Amino acid sequence: MFYKIHSASVVGLTCEPIEIEVDISSSWPGFTLVGLGDAAVQEAKDRIRTAWKNTGLTYPHSRGVVINLAPADVRKEGTAFDLPIAIGMYVTNENLVHLHLGDALFVGELALDGSLRHTNGILPLAIYAQKRGFKRFFVPMVNAQEAAIIAGIEIYPVKTLDQILKHITGIQKMSPLETGHIEQFFETAPYEMDMAYVKGQEYAKRALEIAASGAHNILLSGPPGSGKTLLARSFSSILPRMTTEEAIEVTKIYSVAGLLPKDTPIITRRPFRSPHHSASHVALVGGGKFPRPGEISLAHRGVLFLDEFPEFTRQVLENLRQPLEDGVVTISRAQGTLTFPASFTLVASQNPCPCGFATDQDKVCLCSPLQISRYKKKISGPLLDRIDLHIEVPQVELEKLSKDDMAESSDTIRERVESARERQNSRFKGTPIASNSEMKNKEIKEYCKLQEEGLKLLTVAVQQMQLSARSFYRILKLSRTIADLDGSDSIETSHVTEAIQYRSKE
Ligand SMILES: Nc1ncnc2c1ncn2[C@@H]1O[C@H](COP(=O)(O)OP(=O)(O)OP(=O)(O)O)[C@@H](O)[C@H]1O
Ligand SMILES: [Mg+2]
Repeated sequence: MFYKIHSASVVGLTCEPIEIEVDISSSWPGFTLVGLGDAAVQEAKDRIRTAWKNTGLTYPHSRGVVINLAPADVRKEGTAFDLPIAIGMYVTNENLVHLHLGDALFVGELALDGSLRHTNGILPLAIYAQKRGFKRFFVPMVNAQEAAIIAGIEIYPVKTLDQILKHITGIQKMSPLETGHIEQFFETAPYEMDMAYVKGQEYAKRALEIAASGAHNILLSGPPGSGKTLLARSFSSILPRMTTEEAIEVTKIYSVAGLLPKDTPIITRRPFRSPHHSASHVALVGGGKFPRPGEISLAHRGVLFLDEFPEFTRQVLENLRQPLEDGVVTISRAQGTLTFPASFTLVASQNPCPCGFATDQDKVCLCSPLQISRYKKKISGPLLDRIDLHIEVPQVELEKLSKDDMAESSDTIRERVESARERQNSRFKGTPIASNSEMKNKEIKEYCKLQEEGLKLLTVAVQQMQLSARSFYRILKLSRTIADLDGSDSIETSHVTEAIQYRSKE
């Protein structure tokens, strides 16, 4: 007796169709699972056998079970095939092969008691199922809300093996979830940090506002305790809210990484990732035998905060160069390359020298010129070239610290940021570009036209500061964002002047 059931596997962020072929015959007793499954796939045998027994079903001990995961020459991993294998076996064993399940997709890990466990990658699978024209998608109940944000497909939340078997045989029908109500998850919970609690530092705050408006990279340097980490952590509270498309994009990555928080079917707030400086190459950029997204992809559409920037190993930092330019990271593996999105805003913080006081007006720096230059060399020129805003964060004056009044709140700043981002959204409507920092030369030519005076000023600055061609274009993009914050269609000289001022003088 032979039967076929549809499932799918997630490779990177894309899904590949997997057909589960089941054959149960009276000859050669035993259980064979073929199709290049990893250890977790192979162990499905034992999980299914036990779940089967605990569901009260009679296992076909005297007959031979052969399962093929097709295409048989593609490596497969994980536990998501447990459910389709178990259903395929049941249908074949009970001789119910007339049942029509060709319009349904099944995924889910089985627990030994026959219940279904959390399974990774459900959101991309739901998108795949809907696009491929499947009518029904059966998923573990714990993941069902995650799938239900996708409209146009029936999502069935499955609690146990027994429940789904009763459904497909018509003994007791389950009802699908209501789908597509994504807006209800965009809550307005207060942020943990608020710019209102950061005293002084108006210059740095202005720079952060510009960075948030156009998703520009920023480097904060200053003496110990001046508030760099505080400013960077408060940065997420002024970021513009995500659009639904952005939220789905980000949630897909967290779904595949298995990092979607419980009771959170969709991520609606921009991610803020702050890996420690001891993070490895794979942790930061992603990879592994079955590649997983790294910190830079988990920061997609949000912030990657690298505190104590020079403490990261140079090799790890150099890996950021390609994603910072392209907004994606390409990972090589045996079966070809794979890309993950990685369009993030880099926020880095550093001291100006090992003792931290090189730029402090009151304290004496104890470092030798050699020590300072060695410290600075830890971050390569090409990496610094990709940072648009180089900001000095001096010690805040005591009188400002001791004052009791609050600074401008994050909500007020975010309103300005969002109106600047709205201008960008309408500018780039229908294109994959989400913010000014993502413009390529074609868009720069179209949207960053300078008037004669501004162009002259920029040319002189590029010559005097010996800036690269990349810097030239990055200043143009930054000027565009400053003009957007100003509500101006044209880029004025004052916008260019401000943009130049944020470039590193070294
Ligand atoms: N401008 C400020 N307003 C309010 N509190 C501040 C300010 N600057 C610093 N602080 C206080 O000082 C603490 C230390 O600041 P923070 O950790 O941001 O310094 P840092 O610049 O990152 O120092 P380091 O170089 O040592 O990492 C903060 O937790 C905060 O309580
Ligand atoms: Mg710090």
